Amino acid sequence: MNVNIKKTANGWLLNRHDCDAQAQWFEATYWQQQDKILGQSHGRNVTWFVGEKNSPMVLRHYCRGGLIGKLVHDSYLFTGLKSSRAYRECQLLLQLEQLALPACRVVAAQVIRTGLSYRADLLMKMVDGAQDLVAILTKKPLASQQWQQIGATIALFHQHKVYHADLNAHNILLDGDNNPWLIDFDRGEIRGQKGVWCQQNLQRLLRSFNKEKKKLAQFHFSENDWQQLLQGYTATAN
Ligand SMILES: Nc1ncnc2c1ncn2[C@@H]1O[C@H](COP(=O)(O)OP(=O)(O)O)[C@@H](O)[C@H]1O
Ligand SMILES: [Mg+2]
Repeated sequence: MNVNIKKTANGWLLNRHDCDAQAQWFEATYWQQQDKILGQSHGRNVTWFVGEKNSPMVLRHYCRGGLIGKLVHDSYLFTGLKSSRAYRECQLLLQLEQLALPACRVVAAQVIRTGLSYRADLLMKMVDGAQDLVAILTKKPLASQQWQQIGATIALFHQHKVYHADLNAHNILLDGDNNPWLIDFDRGEIRGQKGVWCQQNLQRLLRSFNKEKKKLAQFHFSENDWQQLLQGYTATAN
């Protein structure tokens, strides 16, 4: 499955094969005018939840984090459409879909070029009834079996050599049936082989759990939960 590319006056619209996105879909005001904003999230990027209640979508504008982000908020050096963040994430999400991995499904993306730089947005399907692990763990603990299932899900991605550049507690969702999903594949890629990066993904996730636990008044995460996650990972890995 390849991304369908459509040239626009100042950039490109990227579509999944069965979709024909319009440029205005990437404007929050377009959804606002139709009273179709369902919610929003403020992480590094501003993320909007838009569309119909029975087929909600997630609209994310690519923004920079860290120090550079304070200077150049949302523009990136243009070195060709196919090396843009949006094109790469789109293509990766389609590959993950083909592998039937539980990653959010892409709808479309846009890249807008201004001279040497570009800005971009990504539109995805919302995972049904999902909440991210931070939202869940501030409210309640998870059963051992659920921690194992999260570990097994990460192992499944690693079996397919999928590298996640920012595996943290905000980027793991549990849907209405408690099934885990991974989101936010910006800068992710399918690698040639498994390697030390698998352990690095896990270490990053552990740091994220510990960071949230320090930061939040209530966050249900313990050493035993982590051991359960690792057990699920190991049982599925190889
Ligand atoms: N496909 C999705 N389904 C449900 N919720 C989502 C989805 N994508 C993102 N979210 C929610 O929005 C938050 C931010 O989205 P994300 O794509 O991770 O952007 P960022 O981390 O760059 O701010 C996530 O932590 C999650 O709570
Ligand atoms: Mg995220």
